[in-house]
Amino acid sequence: MKVVETIAEMKQIRRKLAEPVGFVPTMGYLHEGHLSLVRRARAENSSVVVSIFVNPTQFGPQEDFNSYPRDIPRDLAMLETAKTDIVFIPTAEEMYPPRFGSWIDVEKVTERLEGAARPGHFRGVATVVAKLFNIVEPTRAYFGQKDAQQVVVIKKMVADLNMNLQIVTCPTVREPDGLAMSSRNTYLKPDERQAAVVLYQALKLAQQLWSQGEKDANRLRQAMRDLIQKQPLAEKIDYISIADAETLEELDKVKPPALVSLAVKIGKPRLIDNIVLE
Ligand code: PAJ
Repeated sequence: MKVVETIAEMKQIRRKLAEPVGFVPTMGYLHEGHLSLVRRARAENSSVVVSIFVNPTQFGPQEDFNSYPRDIPRDLAMLETAKTDIVFIPTAEEMYPPRFGSWIDVEKVTERLEGAARPGHFRGVATVVAKLFNIVEPTRAYFGQKDAQQVVVIKKMVADLNMNLQIVTCPTVREPDGLAMSSRNTYLKPDERQAAVVLYQALKLAQQLWSQGEKDANRLRQAMRDLIQKQPLAEKIDYISIADAETLEELDKVKPPALVSLAVKIGKPRLIDNIVLE
């Protein structure tokens, strides 16, 4: 496994990599969710590149960019075990030099959900992912369903801008009790960690009611809200959404594939999760 820190060296090494090349962009502090993407990339490609870059432009001014968890030595050990070929760890100075001034704005699908709650977030995500695609030139790039809207945004960008790669979506990896793995789970105190399972319980409730015949999206949202409000440590429900899985427009009547997603603040972190009703 080779660690690469500059864009020039990454581009040079890229030319010698065996095709096809699988790429997993991350912000580090890796867990089994990230590793599931790396393993899938390993299984489907001759070379595997993973990037670790806590991208400042996708964090809002009040968000956790400075406190975002970081542990590069631990990440490298995990990536070595998962048989990664190249780990690309650029600096913020090189990715965003002083007069940097070009941005990718994906319209419509960025307006709701995470986009509404985090203004500018997807502009930062789309821009950094486009830059990483140009530097790494992967055959395939791997993203987690955990960040469902991010996948929709990246797929739209790739289609709209005729980018020459395939986007592969991988299932959400969960803790044994159902909590979706996330680097931000480390912010949870023990009692909050226990309470955090309520996100998954609310998603499962919606799925259960739907499979029993409930098609009214408002009634499903309300049932989820009632369940979460019973959990006192769930301080604030940011949104509960049942939307068309492609356009992300809110539904009145559930028509599959529908994305059921939510964002809830528990203690310090704001947690997100989703399932798709197929
Ligand atoms: P990060 O949050 O580090 O996530 C990197 C990738 O891992 C994303 O595709 C995310 O969806 C996936 N992932 C995270 N938790 C997962 C889980 N529990 N199960 C499956 N996949 C999971 O997402 C980002 O970084 C950034 O926005 C990035 C795309 C790197 C751009 O900066």
